[in-house]
Amino acid sequence: MSRNFLGMKHLKKEDVENIVNRAYQYKNNSSLYKNALKDKNIITMFFENSTRTKTSFTLSAKKMSANVIDIDYQKSSMQKGETDFDTITNLDAMHPDAFVIRHFHSGYPAFLSKFTDAAVINAGDGICEHPSQAILDLVTMFEVKKDIENLNVCIVGDIINSRVAKSHIETAKMFNWNLSFYGPKTMLPKQEWIENIKIEKDFESAINDKDFIMLLRIQLERKSGSNLPSLSEYSKFFGINECNIPKDTHIMHPGPVNRGIELSSSVMDNSEYALITKQVENGVFARMAIYDFCLN
Ligand code: CP
Repeated sequence: MSRNFLGMKHLKKEDVENIVNRAYQYKNNSSLYKNALKDKNIITMFFENSTRTKTSFTLSAKKMSANVIDIDYQKSSMQKGETDFDTITNLDAMHPDAFVIRHFHSGYPAFLSKFTDAAVINAGDGICEHPSQAILDLVTMFEVKKDIENLNVCIVGDIINSRVAKSHIETAKMFNWNLSFYGPKTMLPKQEWIENIKIEKDFESAINDKDFIMLLRIQLERKSGSNLPSLSEYSKFFGINECNIPKDTHIMHPGPVNRGIELSSSVMDNSEYALITKQVENGVFARMAIYDFCLN
């Protein structure tokens, strides 16, 4: 019997704690995961571009001895007009154990999960959720703080278009975070839509006294740039650099970073502050633990 991994809002706190703990154990002991997915067949389908998520879902499956088959959207029969739905039902007829799906439509992995017995793993859907990113962020926070409860976290940037922010709204409820948002008004949800999340009034209060500041990418492919007067103004008023970075905080970013816009090179490349490559490293172990949750 397999389980889906569709979003943080579908998971119990206990499930999330188990996945995070398992990822941390995997990081520290490779004998725990070798052969854990032997004879399992995993299909990856990315309808949107990806570097980190696709590579780490593939790498983690291979490290666990699974077979991984990637469906290249550009070279598949979808280019002949076959629908996503027909594609997945035909692939399902080959009885894979899991589908890892990134799709530009919000809710699409959940929709497709109704038509397969295989586990469906959401690798990011539209502007809805990016739950494996939330898990790897939690693993990274745990590694740094040794605790993921009661954290002070501010997410800065294009909140409305961010599936990472949507997943962390759920994380914040589970782990009693003091979560706040900051960004240009055109990129922030209305306060009445987000109970218990503070909209910060100014940059200073947004960045001070936070355990973690999470910066989000201006999603130029989703036309986020059209909600801004200019990218250089965004950088001036909302970017973190060597002059304004607060002491005793950690900077996170899901990547890819618009270098010099959300974050200056001097901060981005300084691992004393920036956890970005640690997040990517932990992504491999987080995704292993997600496979374990779904398939074992
Ligand atoms: N963080 C993230 O989802 O990166 P990719 O788009 O490169 O997978």
